[in-house]
Amino acid sequence: MQPLIAGNWKMNGVASQLHEIEAVAASVKATLPSTEVLICLPATLIAQAVLTAAGGISIGAEDCSAEISGPFTGDLSAEMLKDAGAGAVIVGHSERRQHYGETDAVVAAKAKAARRAGLLAIICIGETSAQRLAGNALSVCGDQIARSVPENMTASSAVIGYEPLWAIGSGQMPTSGQIIEMHAHIRDCLTQCLGAEGKKLRILYGGSVKPSNALSILSLPEVGGVLVGGASLKSADFLAICRAAPAMNPPNVNSQKEQ
Ligand code: PGA
Repeated sequence: MQPLIAGNWKMNGVASQLHEIEAVAASVKATLPSTEVLICLPATLIAQAVLTAAGGISIGAEDCSAEISGPFTGDLSAEMLKDAGAGAVIVGHSERRQHYGETDAVVAAKAKAARRAGLLAIICIGETSAQRLAGNALSVCGDQIARSVPENMTASSAVIGYEPLWAIGSGQMPTSGQIIEMHAHIRDCLTQCLGAEGKKLRILYGGSVKPSNALSILSLPEVGGVLVGGASLKSADFLAICRAAPAMNPPNVNSQKEQ
């Protein structure tokens, strides 16, 4: 399974910071050609970033509407993001779920929209600190998988981002044992929902991933990559994380890179 190293700039970045994308893309192309690298950006930067990246890495979006077009002022459809050059889109990030009340049903509709447009959907799930302390982390994430992952998703149309909310931007990390337990549980849930295909979807870990912990996280069973927030903003940090990905044979399908 080819690991995916994905960045998420969130609401950060203007055109003058695209040199960070240029540095990552050039270095990945020259020194890590077999590593699959994606950076999800504010929509305003996507078209320019695709040109800047020049095929060295893929560029993605951070959210999309479930609709194709129409009277939804301010929203962007998955088709529009694809048209701008995106190859992927994050759906159901906990910041969207928390601040915009996005339900599992909304997240599933957005994941379907991503597939309709030919974008890889990064479907995010994760428990709060209170849910973990109450002993409900596995059941909360299992329910999110069952309700947020549409039927018939495949390994080429979706990946899962497991991001415990209490680890995001906090510097707090789950133990290796907690990550192993959760990723194994997510794998079981995916297999229940999607059958044999559920064994193939990559499960990314996200939440306070840094150069110093990337190698140990990426070495854990069922960790198919990482989703990186803060540490994706600086090319040196993000590249150090990319270098921790196990060397693999070049991927045979990476249509995003060709855009
Ligand atoms: P972080 O964010 O790496 O800054 O913790 C991760 C995310 O929210 O995707």
